[in-house]
Amino acid sequence: MTKPVSSVSVTAGDESVSLPIIKGTMGPDVIDIHALSSALGLLNYDPGFVGTASCESKITFIDGEKSLLLYRGYPIEELAERATFTEVAYLLLNEELPNVEQYRHFSQLLKKQSLLHEQIRNFFNGFRRDAHPMAILCGTVGALSAFYHEAVDISNEASRMLSAIRLIAKIPTIAAWAYKYTQGETFMYPRSEYSYSENLLYMMFATPMEPYVMNPVVARAIDRILILHADHEQNASTSTVRLAGSTGANPFACISAGIAALWGPAHGGANEAVLKMLDSIGRKENIPAFIEKVKDKNSGIRLMGFGHRVYKNFDPRAKIMQNACHDVLNELGITHEPLLELAMELEKIALEDPYFIERKLYPNVDFYSGIIFRALGIPSSMFTPLFAVARATGWISQWKEMIEGTQRINRPRQLYTGASLRHFTPISTRD
Ligand code: ACO
Repeated sequence: MTKPVSSVSVTAGDESVSLPIIKGTMGPDVIDIHALSSALGLLNYDPGFVGTASCESKITFIDGEKSLLLYRGYPIEELAERATFTEVAYLLLNEELPNVEQYRHFSQLLKKQSLLHEQIRNFFNGFRRDAHPMAILCGTVGALSAFYHEAVDISNEASRMLSAIRLIAKIPTIAAWAYKYTQGETFMYPRSEYSYSENLLYMMFATPMEPYVMNPVVARAIDRILILHADHEQNASTSTVRLAGSTGANPFACISAGIAALWGPAHGGANEAVLKMLDSIGRKENIPAFIEKVKDKNSGIRLMGFGHRVYKNFDPRAKIMQNACHDVLNELGITHEPLLELAMELEKIALEDPYFIERKLYPNVDFYSGIIFRALGIPSSMFTPLFAVARATGWISQWKEMIEGTQRINRPRQLYTGASLRHFTPISTRD
């Protein structure tokens, strides 16, 4: 733990306590509030964890005012432009970018581990054909814990790393097979000549009938999207993984918990929800009426892909995604994409509206990712699973960091507002 740089004094009644203020490398200072409960018997109340630093981490940094996102210190723009997803996965896991030999070795390990135990095929048959691929992903990743339980010794460094590599390597296969299953198509096995993202495309779209023609533009775009989604500090799903992991549970079970948290429309499910929203708006003329509905709190409708707990300015990933969207459409020769034009008009109108300006609501990564996914031919039910494939790298890096740090069970307290102490009465005497 970093040394305190100053302190703040808190007084409750006649008692006072000095709370240390700790400085990170970047970002706001934090107050260590441990002594609040031990010295004053007080708890810290912060619903939604708006002002809570839940852990110390060296992996990802966000400055929401300056639109800054760093993985291990490297700006997301540089990584998205110049790195491969495999390099980024290595960086998140190992703290440094790989050299040529380390990269070759890591890529080979990922390829070797990308096959699933043959018995895992049986799991898919248990799901309905119309199951959402996220449901299949959540269940099947959790089921990996049944295959690698005794083999995982979380107190052993090599075992932790092997679990991390297994997860990163196998999750694209599970996601692609979840899609194939819902389509009633043959499962395709990963091929060693393909990169991580190429294999993802191959397993989703190839068939045994004919050779698969890889489109390098599409593969590079997918690789970039995976980089943009790889980690995002202590978001809801990552915090879920850390919370589950803090009990010492099997890492695959913890990742399954993270997948469940990601699925919701307020988090990773937003990319699919954005497309549904754009489809329902349909035409530019309908935007003003839709915006009015969003502003009406009784409607329960939100502008999906807008707003973020940390970014109070542009989400840097949304900017990259928007540019990538134009690049990909150009490279694919798509000159007119009505959905993108509708999204850009919606963004323009929202950014000029006082409701969004006052609340500092800007497009987040999900606003454009669905459009680019659709242009790349990815079905909308696979948007969130692909987010999960990317984020698995961040989740397992955060899990490893937690286990390798001062692991203590994450156990929040509460502000209790229920009934005071009362006593049981027999049913015959109750009104
Ligand atoms: N549309 C309309 N109003 C919104 C939106 C939105 N998308 N987002 C926030 N607001 C409003 C809220 O109603 C609230 O208004 P009020 O102060 O008048 O009550 C104010 O802005 C603050 O919103 P909160 O819900 O308190 O913000 P919070 O930080 O809790 O939520 C969240 C962040 C969940 C991302 C929210 O902005 C949202 O629901 N956005 C739409 C879903 C979405 O795009 N999620 C993806 C997030 S990025 C990711 O997970 C990869």
